[in-house]
Amino acid sequence: MVTYTESVDGVGEEALKGFFVGWPSPPSARTHLKILENSAFVVIARDEDSGDVVGFVNAISDGVLTAYVPLLEVRPAYQRQGIGSELMRRLMSRVTDFYMVDLLCDKDLQPFYGRFGMTPAIGMMVRNFERQSGE
Ligand SMILES: CC(C)(COP(=O)(O)OP(=O)(O)OC[C@H]1O[C@@H](n2cnc3c(N)ncnc32)[C@H](O)[C@@H]1OP(=O)(O)O)[C@@H](O)C(=O)NCCC(=O)NCCS
Repeated sequence: MVTYTESVDGVGEEALKGFFVGWPSPPSARTHLKILENSAFVVIARDEDSGDVVGFVNAISDGVLTAYVPLLEVRPAYQRQGIGSELMRRLMSRVTDFYMVDLLCDKDLQPFYGRFGMTPAIGMMVRNFERQSGE
């Protein structure tokens, strides 16, 4: 059974494996945990049988106007079971009071995020690929 928490308390590095699929230089489990700890909001999906984290979403925030959602991922074996949607639903319910809730995504995911009240926008970004692992 998959259960959801909105805290990283009790989540260890050993439970964070199988994420950042396809990233050439992925963050380590230790760095992943630090990302979650430093985030303003997290929602974590765990497989109660194994104890493993199977999906997560995080948001960073100025605490006044803005929340930004940098990462959402469900481990491949657990995708298409509604977990990503539940993570987003729970996160969006935490940020309803902010003026801006933003994220960047590929075009093919716009319909997915549209289900949570988001609308397409034009954005700009920098990616320093030599810093991708966060080390
Ligand atoms: C996007 C992601 C989080 C969705 O998680 P999920 O648990 O599979 O999502 P759900 O089961 O709740 O919803 C599935 C729906 O999302 C949409 N969807 C999922 N992946 C998609 C993709 N790659 N392209 C387009 N739509 C997609 C589909 O509409 C799908 O509905 P369907 O199963 O009826 O076809 C997951 O595919 C993932 O981790 N992808 C890799 C990381 C990623 O791309 N993260 C988003 C960064 S912006």
